[in-house]
Amino acid sequence: MKTIHTVAELRATLSAAPAAPVFVPTMGNLHEGHLALIRQAVGLADAAAATGRSPVVASIFVNRLQFGPNEDFDRYPRTLARDAELLASAGCDILFAPDEAELYPEPQGYKVVPPAELADILEGAFRPGFFTGVCTVVHKLFNLVQPRAAVFGKKDYQQLMVIRNMVRQMGLPIDIVGGDTMRSPEGLALSSRNGYLSDDERAEALTLIGLLRQIQSQARGATALTPALLAEWEQAAMARLRERGWAPDYVMVRRQTDLHAPTADELAAGLTTTPLVTLVAAKLGRTRLIDNLEI
Ligand code: PAF
Repeated sequence: MKTIHTVAELRATLSAAPAAPVFVPTMGNLHEGHLALIRQAVGLADAAAATGRSPVVASIFVNRLQFGPNEDFDRYPRTLARDAELLASAGCDILFAPDEAELYPEPQGYKVVPPAELADILEGAFRPGFFTGVCTVVHKLFNLVQPRAAVFGKKDYQQLMVIRNMVRQMGLPIDIVGGDTMRSPEGLALSSRNGYLSDDERAEALTLIGLLRQIQSQARGATALTPALLAEWEQAAMARLRERGWAPDYVMVRRQTDLHAPTADELAAGLTTTPLVTLVAAKLGRTRLIDNLEI
């Protein structure tokens, strides 16, 4: 695997490649969830081997633009040497790891602002500007890497939806592929932020998947779904989290397509017609965790 730190070297390397890359953007501190995305990218690259194999490119860049003033930008773990070894072992061909001055040589005045109806709900309501930061850096990375496909984890369900929407509206010729969430054997969604948890908090963090599975089985088993029933389950889950010492931001059952609340008619039509997903975000001690489960 080749590690590249500058835009000039990235351009020179990619211009000599036989096909456009398959790309996995990350912020580093990699875990098995990221490596599963890399392996998925390797599968996509191999699948097009007949026309010239695409290199698999991963980026590592902790993007200041997507962190709020009181968030964990400064303490976000930076583990480049270990990440590079993991990427190489998973079959990545090129690691692009620019520093801030390389990616943002001047203050980033031009931003990609996603529509409020997608980006100011759920995560965006609690992390103002987050999706503008994400879309700006992802759009910029797409311009630099010019991939034919890019893989994003479903753990960041809303991010995946917003990026799909950006690519469609901007007419970018990139296939956006979702990767399944990887979990510990007990069910904890893998996340770089799990590293902030104490042993006790790590055990308590399993409450999230327990609540998501409970709502999934209630929804699948219900004879008739209504907005009132979903609201009851959401509120019960929020109350349970508070009782256990969490500070929940939201537990919401939403349409998979646009993450808006399903209407009574859509719920009456059933889960096949209107697939749903439950999304949760909550703080345990100093650590904010998110998770989701399709119903
Ligand atoms: O999901 C992430 O790690 C980041 O939001 C991303 C997509 C790499 C943009 O900084």
